[in-house]
This record gives sequence, structure tokens and C-alpha cells, in this order.
Amino acid sequence: MKHMTASMPSTRHPCLAVTVLTVAMAAFGPLLAEGIGLDRSMPPRLVQKDGRHALLVDGEPLLMLVAQANNSSNYPAALPKVWPAVKFIRANTLQMPVAWEQIEPEEGRFDFSFVDTLLAQARERDIRLILLWFATWKNNSPKYAPEWVKLNNRRFPRVITKDGEQRDSLSPVFEETLDADRKAFVELMRHLEAFDPQHTVIMVQPENETGTYGSVRDYSPTAERLFQGPVPNELVRRLGRKAGTWPEVFGSDADEFFHAWHISRFVDQVASAGKAVHPLPMYVNAALRDPINPQDPLTYSAGGPTHNVIDVWKAGATSIDLIAPDIYFREHERVTAVLDHYARPDNALFVAEIGSDVPFARYVFPVLGRGGIGFAPFGIDYTGYSNYPLGAKEVTEKTLEPFASVFRIFAPMAREWARLAVTGEVWGTARPEDGASQTLDLGKWEASVEYGQWQFGMPEWFPNADKPAQATLPVGGAAIARLGPDEYLVVGQHARVTFRPAHARAGEHGMLARVEEGSFERGEWRPARVWSGDQTDYGLNFTALPQVLRVKLARY
Ligand code: DGJ
Repeated sequence: MKHMTASMPSTRHPCLAVTVLTVAMAAFGPLLAEGIGLDRSMPPRLVQKDGRHALLVDGEPLLMLVAQANNSSNYPAALPKVWPAVKFIRANTLQMPVAWEQIEPEEGRFDFSFVDTLLAQARERDIRLILLWFATWKNNSPKYAPEWVKLNNRRFPRVITKDGEQRDSLSPVFEETLDADRKAFVELMRHLEAFDPQHTVIMVQPENETGTYGSVRDYSPTAERLFQGPVPNELVRRLGRKAGTWPEVFGSDADEFFHAWHISRFVDQVASAGKAVHPLPMYVNAALRDPINPQDPLTYSAGGPTHNVIDVWKAGATSIDLIAPDIYFREHERVTAVLDHYARPDNALFVAEIGSDVPFARYVFPVLGRGGIGFAPFGIDYTGYSNYPLGAKEVTEKTLEPFASVFRIFAPMAREWARLAVTGEVWGTARPEDGASQTLDLGKWEASVEYGQWQFGMPEWFPNADKPAQATLPVGGAAIARLGPDEYLVVGQHARVTFRPAHARAGEHGMLARVEEGSFERGEWRPARVWSGDQTDYGLNFTALPQVLRVKLARY
């Protein structure tokens, strides 16, 4: 991990790190002052300031560039096929399932051998881990629960539909299920407390894509009794409603809100018991519903943290640090709508899963532009499995290259970018399907982002020239961070970025006063060269190269 220190020399070059630090100190005060320099003994934690978020790892903000392994890669035998893919895409974090069935195959007998192997191998590679607790819910069902759980319906009842049929989803309203899941999770967290003092594991996801397919809630007699009872005060207050029964308070939303409330309470109790023995940031992931058009809850994982019930979950699961979307929509409009639902002052944006195919990689830019703390393509290993048509048809270096090429930009500055995102302003955008250009409002400046152009000249000068190969592909985007009043860090791919002054007086022009291409070394900006002439006459033209620019703007 790169270091960022308080005393970086600024005599040779105007030093960006000092600028970043100054902004950080002013805006973030003692929080960052206390965290300067990496300290492995400091537990990871999520911080929030003025609606901006950071995950502090070793006491400093870290942008999580994540690879999520395939579902069944959670065995020592699979790990040799996981690490090369993690390395290839330049991820700094691996998300790995830990299944209840593998740690507690018989009730009360625990086996952490996989966890130990994983910890050791991650440390050897300086990769951080996010553990995914596949237990009562894994995509709505208890498939990863041990057989003594998933085959004992009397002790661990399943959801009953309105028509009295069982679904392959455990009901959240039964104490025995909660007790059993919570006990196992606490053992896992206790194991980490004992064997992970250096915090290789930086976050934990209790459960996976909770909710139920094919029933909006549990209609068992036990659930029915609760449904006819009063809505808990915390929820009524949080949503600003008047007290009453579920149907009285929530009308046609009552079934789904009831299910969401009970699942969120279940997950909260699992998470808080785990945090009590080993306090780590914890988040839940959502199997999404359509972010734009209302959808019948029978067609998605109802009761999970879909965007329409985020507030229910916030009220029910107060020990959950954030709610994360799993993104498999490909279209720009839908993806940006999802990001807008989940990036909130009270919810740090973390894309806990995103498809592994080409079009998904470019969304790293709008995620980071919304202050996102991490981005996690799914199915990143060479075990021979592909989840096409959700993701790429196969997982090879060739298909992973789009992710490798965006992570190559941010990996060397994962600390610096995360700090800029929590202390200052960031923007980002990705190419829409039609390739239309976009404008980012930076306050004093506007940045326009165009796609499908060559690096040289204006397209109208060469009406007969062909177009770059990527002109029609779903690739490209840009992200910008403010460094000072007229100074920005600018990155991008397959995009042309130009700046103009906002609110210019008549006759006033904007110009690029200085454009440095460089990189960060131990927190310090090292310019490698200055761009001018062809490299700036037609905007800042980004290709697939991981170029990082420090741009000073001026008016004349
Ligand atoms: C979302 C789930 O969270 C993942 O574990 C996986 O099943 C994908 N869907 C599909 O590959």
C-alpha cells in the first residue's frame, strides 16, 4: 500500500499531495489529521462528512478496486485460479464467499480452514478481503446453509405464499433461524478477531441478495399475526407516518414493507452480534428492481434492499453501514438511475457487484464521480465459469482487459482518489449508448466529455476520415476531482474532455494554463511531462492508456 505522509516535500514540484492534504485538513479536520500515515492496527471504518464518504483502511481512505470471485470459488483448491485474475485486473481487494455450510457442517462444529488459507494467501499478495456471508439468504434461498438447516423445515420454516405453498426462501420471522445463523456468524467474526489483527478483512457482507422470489412476504400464521399487529415505532417515525397496523400504515406497500422490515431486523441482529466481537464495516447487497419503472414485487427479490425500501432497511438495520447495488442492467440510463438511488448522504455508494462484460467497465467513472468508495466486477477468476448473458461469455485476460484498463488508472492512486472524494468534489460520467456528449458542471467551469473522436482535430475537418474502432462500442468515460479553485485531476478513457468557463463575461475565454501528465508516488504527485500543442489543442484526448492529468485552468 502506498503511503501518504504529512511532510511531503513541495520544493521541487508544486506538490499535489500537499494540496490534497490541505484541502483534507480544512474540510475534514481532526479525522484525517489523526489518520495521516498508514497504521495497520487501526480497524477499518466507514466515515461520513457532509454527505461524503470514505472507507478508512489502516487509518486512511482507500478506494476499493475489487474483484469478486465466482460463487463456488470459496475452497483452497480454487484459489490458484482466483489470484491471477485479481492480479491481472489490478484489484486491491477480493470479495470471497464464506458459506455457512463450510464453516458449520454439523451444528456446533466449526471449521475455519478455508478462511485461514484465504487470509494467508491474501496477505502474501497484499490484497484486502471482503467476506460474503452466504447463509440464510444467498440470492433469496438458503442453498449455502448447512443441510441440518436447509432440510429441516419444521425448525427453520420457509416462506409460505398467499396460496399456502412453500418457497425456497427461509422466513425472517422465526427466532430459531436467526439464532442459528447469528451463532455461526459470531463464530466467524470471533475467528477474525483472533486471527486477523492486521485487518486483512476490511468489510463483511452478512447474507447475499436477501429477499424472496415468488412471494412478497411470508403468509404463515406466525407472520400473519405480526402483519395484523402495529408497525414498530422506529419505522413509523423514520418514514413520518401515523401509527397503525401494516395495512393501515402502508396500504398497497404493506406486504413488501413488512417483509423488508423483518429481513432487515434479522440481518441487523446477525450483523450487530458479529460487530460486538469484531467490529468491521458491514453492508448488504441488493438484487435490484427496475430503477425507473415500477415493477410488481412478485417479479424481483421482494423484501431485499431494493431502492423503494432503502428507508425501511435504514430503520431496521442500523448496524449495517451501507446498502449496495448489484448491477447487471447494461443500459446507461438504468445504471445511472441505480447509482442515483444508492448514492445518498446517508448511504455510501459501493457497487458490490457489476457484470464482467465490456459495457460495465466504463461505469467506474460515474460511480467514482458520485463519490463511490468501491467498484466490484463479479465472477473474476479463471475457474472456467462465466455467468453470460449477465456478464462476459468467458473470463480470460482478453475479456477482463476493460476492467484491467480502468483499474490501471486508479490502482496507483487508490488512496489519493479516495481522499479527494471524501474531502472535496468529484465528478464522473460514462458514454451513453448513442455516444452523445455530456457536460459536467464543475461550478466555475464546465467540462464537456465527447466520445468517438480521434485524438487530433475536429471531426468536421475530416468528413471522409474513418472513425476510431471504439466509436460505436459501449466504452469510455471520464472522472474529475477538484484540487483547487482552478485545478483538477482529470482521467478518462476513449473520451475527449474540454473545459470552458461557466458564466464567462463577453470576450472572456478559458484556457489550459498547464497540463501535467504524472502519477502519485507515496502520496506525492510526480509530473512526468507537460502536455501542450497537439496534445491539448483539441481537448484532452484519452485512449485506453492509464493517463492521469493534473490540469490548471485560466481565463484571458
Ligand atoms: C448476484 C449474486 O449476488 C451473485 O452471487 C451471483 O449469483 C450473480 N447474481 C449471478 O452470477
